[in-house]
Amino acid sequence: MKMKLRRVLAVLMCMTFVLAMAAGCSSGSDSADSDAKEAGDSAADAADGAGVDIKDAKVGISIYQFSDNFMTLYRTELVRYMVDELGFTESNITVQDGKNDQAEQTNQINNFITSGVDIMILNLVQSSSAPQVTDMCKEAGIPVVYINRQPDESESDRWTSEGIKATYIGADARQSGTYQGEEIAETENKGDINGDGKVSYIMVQGDPENIDAQYRTEFSIKALEDAGMETEELLLQRGDWDQAKGQQITQDALTQFGDDVEVVFCNNDAMALGALQAIQAAGRTVGKDIYLVGVDALTDAVQNIVDGKFTGTVFNDYFGQAQGAADLAVKFLNGEEVGAINMVDYIKVTPENAEEILEKIK
Ligand code: GAL
Repeated sequence: MKMKLRRVLAVLMCMTFVLAMAAGCSSGSDSADSDAKEAGDSAADAADGAGVDIKDAKVGISIYQFSDNFMTLYRTELVRYMVDELGFTESNITVQDGKNDQAEQTNQINNFITSGVDIMILNLVQSSSAPQVTDMCKEAGIPVVYINRQPDESESDRWTSEGIKATYIGADARQSGTYQGEEIAETENKGDINGDGKVSYIMVQGDPENIDAQYRTEFSIKALEDAGMETEELLLQRGDWDQAKGQQITQDALTQFGDDVEVVFCNNDAMALGALQAIQAAGRTVGKDIYLVGVDALTDAVQNIVDGKFTGTVFNDYFGQAQGAADLAVKFLNGEEVGAINMVDYIKVTPENAEEILEKIK
């Protein structure tokens, strides 16, 4: 009898050990996690994410600027998806406003580290700070998912070659620029409204430090030229993705260049909505004596395409990007391998599919 009891106890102890090991290796538990930390494992081991239950995972998110229209849609979808579909706990997710100030945002990242977040999702104010921020996170053993503003290739190459737990998800801005140029090339006069053999345009640029702004500016014109058109740049000015600036720049350009302006290219829809206000105030009519294109597919912009007041835009798929970012965060938390660069496709939005896109984003 005694013998039997001892054997049962031994088997039970064995099973407990196996279960504890399994918990530590797969989904993990609070105690396994804190034990690891207490054991003074290198920070990198402790957090490499692995071993945290999703519902317990602490997430630090910083958005470059809350007032940005597109990033507002993005962050709303990001938190919704994490909580409603992936099982994160809302109170474990902290979302900070970087206030378009890198020093402020770097402080927030330091606070995330001090408070012991398990993962960060970062929309950097300046993508050029990625090397410094990545090193901070690496030191602390916290994986990082960069979104929206793509760090230099040399930086993302380093993540791969040094095995750093960092990744980027976004959309290739060359594609959005190309679509904008094609939208103009597909109009009846290919953008040459006055028939003088060239397309005269103004370019309202986002923040020029940003690769999205650089590529959209370059590839929109390239696509138009590839379609056989000669182009003339009347003005290129930074509007920092901002509607009021888009309005002011376009208003001044229309005063200065008048009917010579055939196309207003805007690096995003917020600025294009501002440009539309200026175009209407100047008594011009989109589709008749001027063309206007943006990027993002904000609801107002797509509605304007349906109403014939915008020539086109490009859907910047914030659903795909936000959900992809959250999925990558989960992969890190599960200790899975994550590639350095993840791209989501843009979609051209023209009068042909505007209604359909509107349904998707409403
Ligand atoms: C772009 C987007 C802009 C602005 C910018 C911020 O992808 O088109 O509207 O949100 O990101 O970095």
